[in-house]
Amino acid sequence: MALIEITDFRTPGGWTDPQSSTQRSQECCRQLEEGNILFFRQMPFEMPQVDLDFLTGVKQSDSALHKNISYRPKADVLRGAEAAPPEAMQRLHRIMRSYSQNVTAFISRLLEPYAGSFRHDFASFRAIEEQGRDLPLHRRNDLMHVDAFPTRPTRGDRILRCFTNVNPAESRVWVTGEPMSVVAQRFAQDAGLSRLLARASTPAGRISRTLRHVLGPLAGKGAAQRTPYDEFMLSFHDYLKERQDYQDEKQGKLRTEFPPFSTWIVFTDGVPHSVLSGRLALEQTFIIPLSAMIVPEQSPARVLEKIAGQALLA
Ligand SMILES: [Fe+2]
Repeated sequence: MALIEITDFRTPGGWTDPQSSTQRSQECCRQLEEGNILFFRQMPFEMPQVDLDFLTGVKQSDSALHKNISYRPKADVLRGAEAAPPEAMQRLHRIMRSYSQNVTAFISRLLEPYAGSFRHDFASFRAIEEQGRDLPLHRRNDLMHVDAFPTRPTRGDRILRCFTNVNPAESRVWVTGEPMSVVAQRFAQDAGLSRLLARASTPAGRISRTLRHVLGPLAGKGAAQRTPYDEFMLSFHDYLKERQDYQDEKQGKLRTEFPPFSTWIVFTDGVPHSVLSGRLALEQTFIIPLSAMIVPEQSPARVLEKIAGQALLA
């Protein structure tokens, strides 16, 4: 697991050596899939200074704008800023839309093998200081975890996230750990992988899944679409946060300070991570199909299937 700094790519313009662009793109995808982070010391796409100034001006004490604000690109909807004055909300909406579009164009060129097949998930503006947040254990960002979305199961597809630190004065500090190929070998069985599969294959388990499909949204948002893989990833997210010895260990972990205006990209379903401190970050999530993976055997679904000895995506 490493931080890989990219210095030969800019938007617009793309790779500095266009001859090798396909090869460099493939290499970047491979590095991400193997559990590394791609890092850009400067923002690799345009963002007007007036927009950055506006985001910087969002104060920690501004209760209307200090919680996580999300932008849904498909519907072009901003959530979480309803209490803000209409002007501020409209401005933020425009900034988020533009960030989302710019990151999408950037990712399409940087990671060519995924272009055309990825799905847009949400973007977010993280305006709260992460250090010392008072949250219930399973919602704490400062504890190592892998991402899984309760309401938007990926069914084995991957969660790729692009972050930008828009704080002009302070770094955002992360800790990352060894990827799922290592962590799952250590903990998946203890976290209940075989038990979950055994339960799913009993008559009661099959009836319960059929019921969830029939009930649809009544079974809970996203529950009807969950495969055994999604169920396991949700419980593994909680398991890692609960496991104090894993949280405390130093071996295999990397502490990284992402400086002001840097950007980084990572598969957060495959790389355990925690955020120790930082305020003011933008993020756009993409769902990349498992079928687009260059090293599919490194993806959490395939890693877990190998450990379990059976399919998880049925
Ligand atoms: Fe996370």
